[in-house]
Amino acid sequence: MLFDTHAHMDDASFDADRHQLIAELPQADIALLMNPGCDLPTSQNAVALANQYDFIYAAVGSHPDAADLVNEDLIETYRNLCKNNPKVKAIGEIGLDYHYEDVPREIQQQAFRMQMQLARELDLPVIIHEREAHEDGMAIVNEFPDVKGVFHCYSGSAEMAKVLISKGYYIGFTGVLTFKNARKAVEVASSIPLERIVLETDCPYMSPEPFRGKRNDPSKLYRMAERLAEIRGLTVEEIHQITTENGKRLYRI
Ligand code: NI
Repeated sequence: MLFDTHAHMDDASFDADRHQLIAELPQADIALLMNPGCDLPTSQNAVALANQYDFIYAAVGSHPDAADLVNEDLIETYRNLCKNNPKVKAIGEIGLDYHYEDVPREIQQQAFRMQMQLARELDLPVIIHEREAHEDGMAIVNEFPDVKGVFHCYSGSAEMAKVLISKGYYIGFTGVLTFKNARKAVEVASSIPLERIVLETDCPYMSPEPFRGKRNDPSKLYRMAERLAEIRGLTVEEIHQITTENGKRLYRI
């Protein structure tokens, strides 16, 4: 059984078949699923899904693309969503994205800090999205030594992954691991401690091979497990067991 540690089941691309897909997940070997939010509406939808299904958990937070909407009122709304829902297990996804830079960097940094503070206050792990912002991301992580979590869809170096792991973070791998040109991700996945690796689809994005370019969904997570088993020289069953335990430890489930 697998844990999809990052799946946007609330996404509009699942509107037509969301509940059917979710109902079929146990047969697809998906035992647990974390649905992070990207802004207030998606966070609320994530919480609603988690309240509806035993094996779905939620995170609330604003993605760097929505960082311009983060203010004290929104933080208070997130705080209440966390306090009133035992199925909310993390703050996320939060972070920095300098690739698209839809929101100015300083505003992204401010929103990231405010949400790291909330995680510290509520003693919840964080789900961090960090793209082409390694230095600034690490600097903000260093400001919050008590906060732990996961760097999802990890795109940094093996060296940086090892530093993050020493600070208590987990490293999340998506379908990128299965791409032919995934040299960097494979290098990281082969060299860091197995007990800090979690698997995720990041659906509806990042479909693994041979589904690349199509809509992704949690039933395709088995491909990441197969690839990781190959990379680490372990059986698929061992990878299922280890990464599921890792996800449960990460989100305290
Ligand atoms: Ni995501």
